[in-house]
Amino acid sequence: RGHGPKPPRGLDFEPVAPNRLDALVPPRGYRQDIVIRWGDPVLPGAPRFDFHNQTAAAANKQFGFNNDFCGLVPLRRDAWLMVSNHEYTTETFMFTDYDPANPTREQVEIAWASHGLSVVVIERDKRSGTVKAKVDRHYNRRHPLTAPFTVSGPVAGSDLLKTTADPTGRLVLGTLNNCAGGVTPWGTILTGEENFNQYFANADQVTDPVVKARMARYGLSGGASGRKWERFDDRWDLAKEPNEANRFGWIVEIDPYEPDAKPVKHTALGRFKHEGANVHVARDGRVVAYMGDDERFDYIYKFVSRHRMLPGNSRWARHHNKKLLTEGTLYVAKFTGDSPASEIDGTGTLPSDGEFDGSGKWIPLASGRTSFVPGMSAEEVYVFTRLAADKVGATKMDRPEDVEPNPRDGRVYAALTNNTDRGKAGKEGATEINPRNANRHGHVLEWEEHRGDNTATTFRWRLLLVCGDPNSPDTYFGGYDKTQVSPISCPDNLAFDKYGNLWVSTDGNALGANDGLFATTTTGRERGHLKQFLTVPVGAETCGPVVTEDFVLVSVQHPGEVDGADANNPASHWPDGGDSQPRPSVAVIWKPGREIGT
Ligand code: FEO
Ligand code: CA
Ligand code: CA
Ligand code: CA
Repeated sequence: RGHGPKPPRGLDFEPVAPNRLDALVPPRGYRQDIVIRWGDPVLPGAPRFDFHNQTAAAANKQFGFNNDFCGLVPLRRDAWLMVSNHEYTTETFMFTDYDPANPTREQVEIAWASHGLSVVVIERDKRSGTVKAKVDRHYNRRHPLTAPFTVSGPVAGSDLLKTTADPTGRLVLGTLNNCAGGVTPWGTILTGEENFNQYFANADQVTDPVVKARMARYGLSGGASGRKWERFDDRWDLAKEPNEANRFGWIVEIDPYEPDAKPVKHTALGRFKHEGANVHVARDGRVVAYMGDDERFDYIYKFVSRHRMLPGNSRWARHHNKKLLTEGTLYVAKFTGDSPASEIDGTGTLPSDGEFDGSGKWIPLASGRTSFVPGMSAEEVYVFTRLAADKVGATKMDRPEDVEPNPRDGRVYAALTNNTDRGKAGKEGATEINPRNANRHGHVLEWEEHRGDNTATTFRWRLLLVCGDPNSPDTYFGGYDKTQVSPISCPDNLAFDKYGNLWVSTDGNALGANDGLFATTTTGRERGHLKQFLTVPVGAETCGPVVTEDFVLVSVQHPGEVDGADANNPASHWPDGGDSQPRPSVAVIWKPGREIGT
């Protein structure tokens, strides 16, 4: 530096240039290490990972595949409990002898074990600054697809959730496709069940037209599933167990401090392709969970609890707070632009008032046993939330991923990853809130609720970032000088540091470089001065960022997953180098002797 304005607190680092390296690249002066990799031990007695001799018994004790979100809660000085999502398996990268037409039972059971959640104690070494996972007998847990989860809230026990294996409709084995999540103010972790539809087979054999239409709206269609699990367990066969799919697509809460408690699926937060959920405590003490449904032309939601959060960490307070997400009101967002429609031409050119902005309102869908949607019972609203939101005219968004309030000021941010179908024949075209047709690079939205009250039903919104190449006229960086910012494409996960700076990770960079992690302040003269903090190895997605004052954690998901690559032809050897297979991992980045961004 030496000239230009002083960087905001916590953002004093030299931006990393876009690249295509098979490496994690942090800013100059920073160090990196691996916290835990796919296959590393989680539970006592876990065998050492052996890529060529994997077993389901071993995988059930090891760190799962494709870690996505990770969330930390404090355990003791320099130690935390880390909860990691294992979003999905890619069998062609896990096995050299995988035949997609004929998976073996062992391979399928390894995949069941490699999904779900891990809870792992991590410790920071004060001398070196690195962070490492520990095999902790008391706290460490795996929650694979064979582990029990309970169902809570308004549709627990509903007929729509009952199956042959679970006539109670209250006990589900496993969680699926857990993407992003959030840490609650009461010290639990929320995780979103996203693209659960891909695991189910034979929707085409379902004859009831109502059931069929519901399934279609959730992407449940066609014959055999990609992974062929239906050959090994009837629950993946919709022709035999049509309700099993209704037991996925929820927000799950897990209490890492209580290793023997079953994680809970919260039906009051609706069922869709949940990216994640992030909670803000409103001024009156009620809690508000913000959520996105990650699909092209789907919606942004919020849930407002009926009861208030109790402060403190007492047993009673924790017990009370863990029930907050079981009762409340579920809303969906409708956004209106303030510029004339004629000024929104689909190219991303700013309207004459200089901003993509406007107002919005929250449309209530259901509260407890009350439905606000004509023609749908509350039970139906919760289980088929997408259909309810369709009926009330919610705004179709460009793939809403992470939606996260800034803990400093309660303003809310949403990553809209992309939507190349926007404006295509037969599809909705650009509007002020989703202002580009064929939106390849996505945008980041900001809003503040009426009078700063997060329970309010109206708000003002504006776009903070319209992503892409800053040299291109269809991009916008909060009004900041575009010659000074890093290019960004496909924003996915969001996080805030202790100063309230916004951190954004990307999935699927359409500018031809590797994905990465970026940061900007959202206030003052430096608003929109986006800088790249790191890049991840070739083929990887940057997930689950955690930014503390001493270190940054990123989930490096699917390294080496590029077209034409597989386990017999790896495109990455990260993190172990040589001719090793790539392994999804959680990485730590720190600056020796300094805080992050100082
Ligand atoms: Fe799993 Fe929406 O990304
Ligand atoms: Ca405007
Ligand atoms: Ca994601
Ligand atoms: Ca987040």
